Amino acid sequence: MKIKIFKHNPLFKNKLLLIFKQYPEIFFDGDLKTIKRRLGQVFEPIYPKFYAEIDGQPVGFISYFKRDSSEIWFLSWFAVDKFWQNQGIGKKLMAYVEKQIAKSPISRICIETVWADNEVVRKTNAFYEKCGYQRVGLIPDYYGKQGSKAFYYKDLGTVKLSKKDK
Ligand SMILES: CC(C)(COP(=O)(O)OP(=O)(O)OC[C@H]1O[C@@H](n2cnc3c(N)ncnc32)[C@H](O)[C@@H]1OP(=O)(O)O)[C@@H](O)C(=O)NCCC(=O)NCCS
Repeated sequence: MKIKIFKHNPLFKNKLLLIFKQYPEIFFDGDLKTIKRRLGQVFEPIYPKFYAEIDGQPVGFISYFKRDSSEIWFLSWFAVDKFWQNQGIGKKLMAYVEKQIAKSPISRICIETVWADNEVVRKTNAFYEKCGYQRVGLIPDYYGKQGSKAFYYKDLGTVKLSKKDK
């Protein structure tokens, strides 16, 4: 199985949107509107977006951005097709983005995500911890009945890059 990663191509927007729709525990109705808009846009240097492909089909998506005046990157809109879960695609997308970020002057990454008592959310948060992110905060009931908001954090500056990653 060969996983390839490419800069986002809006041609795949409908297929990628279907992946986000597989996870209503994480991506709520309001999010889907924003995701749809983002997927319709081409690759923008201020909001880098990438997708993973297997045999010519998109199987995952990841993006990141920086807020004005902040000295930290935010990971956003990240998902892997349920059919392809647990096969290393998420880790590969994350490593790809971290490699891009490591080349930028800002090495810190924040992830804002859902915190709730269900299997999908538990898996996501376990995934971030496996990737070396530390949970640094929680806002209870941020999403009302749908859950709380957790903040994960990692400073790539404290992670040694191998020669080939530089
Ligand atoms: C989170 C997500 C992107 C991970 O992608 P993935 O391709 O399934 O993940 P990978 O196969 O690369 O890695 C899975 C890792 O998590 C681990 N893992 C999987 N389920 C787990 C669980 N329930 N508990 C602990 N670890 C778990 C695996 O063991 C693996 O680690 P390993 O390689 O060291 O064994 C994907 O599951 C997803 O799209 N989730 C729903 C959407 C989402 O939550 N997006 C993020 C919003 S902020």
